[in-house]
Amino acid sequence: MTHPYPKKVREFQNHHFDSKIWNDFMFRDDDIIISTYAKSGTTWVQQIVSQLIFNGEEGLPVAEMSPWMDLRVPPKEVKLPEVEQQSHRRFLKTHLPVDALVFSPSAKYIYIGRDGRDVVWSMYNHHTNANQFWYEALNDTPGRVGPPIEPPPDDIRTYFEDWMSKDGHPFWPFWENVRSWWEIRDLPNVLLIHFERLKADMPGEIRRIADFIDTPIDESRWEAILEHCSFGYMKANATASVPLGGAFWDGGAETFVHKGVNGRWRDTLSAAESAAYEERALRELGPECADWLKTGRSG
Ligand code: A3P
Repeated sequence: MTHPYPKKVREFQNHHFDSKIWNDFMFRDDDIIISTYAKSGTTWVQQIVSQLIFNGEEGLPVAEMSPWMDLRVPPKEVKLPEVEQQSHRRFLKTHLPVDALVFSPSAKYIYIGRDGRDVVWSMYNHHTNANQFWYEALNDTPGRVGPPIEPPPDDIRTYFEDWMSKDGHPFWPFWENVRSWWEIRDLPNVLLIHFERLKADMPGEIRRIADFIDTPIDESRWEAILEHCSFGYMKANATASVPLGGAFWDGGAETFVHKGVNGRWRDTLSAAESAAYEERALRELGPECADWLKTGRSG
């Protein structure tokens, strides 16, 4: 049975989020919404979608074209008119769980999953390299709800333990995010993508995305599209695709497009710690979704 279209049931606000922006957002039927928990390949899929819409064009300011809507900085008074003025097909980013979003039955939603351990390893790099401008924007801009975001601990294991024991701390809850998108995966306007599968077969996954957003591929531009979505190209040209050209991170945009590989936690986490993560995933998500999150199979 197909899940009914979800209804927004709550606002979600913290140091990063202001979900209220969606209440005033005017959907267009061909909007594309790219969603993840965070650090799961959002920027990569934004790049892919930009390449499909703009037929492999180079030098697109993707981060500017595809803003993170529910990031509370800049506020909706700035962001909404900007996206309203866009005349190209819009592709916007969110990190909200489904129940805090206004969901359009005609927009297309692409959700990207990544194993929680890989997410944390990526997040630690994101957080440890965040500079003063990042902290000021999140903590000092008026409108913050809840406590400020603090600098991370010195070691990644403590960071991982906190993230596990306080569900997503210091960002936001992980399991509900994945679960909420998994639950609506059968809707005709929802596509689940997985970081691991994207790495294993980027051409196949790009074609899947192209089909889903009804954008036929111009085969004469196929090689350029692939090149522009590759890790090497995206790292070398990160300024265009990373939020604010990377101004929030020491080392700039290249810090954000960091290693692009999974499993880096294997050197640090013991077998018991990993097993505890997997048990938790099973409990939180159920067997099918837990397996998808770990491997990218099914979905
Ligand atoms: P790592 O930090 O593990 O390297 P998000 O955009 O959701 O914040 O996700 C960022 C992660 O996606 C980073 O992971 C980054 O390196 C990876 N990424 C971005 N572009 C990529 C690409 N073309 N190929 C592989 N990984 C990519």
